[in-house]
Amino acid sequence: MKLLEKVTLGKETIKNAVAMAPMTRSRANIEGVVSDLTTLYYTQRASAGLLITEAINITELALGSPLTPGLYSDEQIEAWKKVTKSVHDQGGIIYAQLWHTGRVGHSVDRKGQLPVAPSAIGIKGQQHFTSQGMKEYETPQELTTQEIKQIVKDYGHAARNAIKAGFNGVELHAAFGYLPNQFLSESANLRTDEYGGSVENRNRFVLEVMQELVDVMGIDKVGIKLSPTVYYNNITNSDPVAQFSSLIEALNELPLTYVHLMNGLLPLDDFPNYPKNAIQTFGSVSKHTVIANAGFNKESGEAELQKGIAKIISYGALFLANPDLPKRFELDAELNQPDHATMYGGGEHGYTDYPFLED
Ligand SMILES: Cc1cc2nc3c(=O)[nH]c(=O)nc-3n(C[C@H](O)[C@H](O)[C@H](O)COP(=O)(O)O)c2cc1C
Repeated sequence: MKLLEKVTLGKETIKNAVAMAPMTRSRANIEGVVSDLTTLYYTQRASAGLLITEAINITELALGSPLTPGLYSDEQIEAWKKVTKSVHDQGGIIYAQLWHTGRVGHSVDRKGQLPVAPSAIGIKGQQHFTSQGMKEYETPQELTTQEIKQIVKDYGHAARNAIKAGFNGVELHAAFGYLPNQFLSESANLRTDEYGGSVENRNRFVLEVMQELVDVMGIDKVGIKLSPTVYYNNITNSDPVAQFSSLIEALNELPLTYVHLMNGLLPLDDFPNYPKNAIQTFGSVSKHTVIANAGFNKESGEAELQKGIAKIISYGALFLANPDLPKRFELDAELNQPDHATMYGGGEHGYTDYPFLED
């Protein structure tokens, strides 16, 4: 079975084609420092061919929701060092997912400052989780060109810290409506400067960040997560095929480890221009290793690998609930079901107490 065979990923050979998808667990402290419980959580899952961390804030003001971790203070770096060391001791490989939430945040958790975005357009029809409960989205502040250049540098700084913390690589979170995805979207980016107005200009921010990450990390150390057909967080494009194919073609020119593609999980009836299968449409454009995500189980993951586009399948909720997921796939064992109530926030319950098969 391909899922459980070794695969090459950049310069590494990884032990199977089962990756753990990035998952926010909101269990850092108020300073964005992860605890020993987080070390245990990732170590428990080190049998994955590749672990991708929860999204990690690149700066204090990149933050969208409370209790999410950071990678900008010495204390945060020291805490992540414990995670990477323990994962490496188990023979695991771990990438840090780098996060700037842009307009998906709220001033109550940003020292009173409004969230920032390509354009001053707030998210409608959704509410945001804050330390003071659910709140309506605010109208974000439009970034100046100088501020955009600074954020590109901030990603580079976080990547330097990821090296210090011992991560094998970094993944840019350019999916699910966060800042990079906002730049890529016609509904969130109405800029008329070099960062908006055309497919190429909307790609510019993501490509500048990716170049910065490659400059810092080197060859085969950088991946990117994209969700071309996910319209959550008010992200839409009139022609997503043109936008994301052009982006992936430009990414082909960079020495990346992988492109991580998330299929849309929401109904696409109102979006006739959206391809039904993002892995097929966009994965076939990529020259890099493709990681396929969203909604896979063992059988559908294996079937996806057999198609020959994706080389690795990432599992979110199933890996959250099954610390020994590759083993369970191998033995065709029953799977623990994820508990939605304990996904975000709290302590060990629903975090590190999902049983292993041996238990
Ligand atoms: C609790 C939870 C937190 C998540 N947090 C993130 C995140 O921080 N970054 C990210 O790119 N995706 C995040 N996701 C999305 C997953 O990476 C993945 O795309 C999604 O769960 C679909 O994969 P699955 O069907 O295998 O669960 C999260 C998903 C879950 C369930």
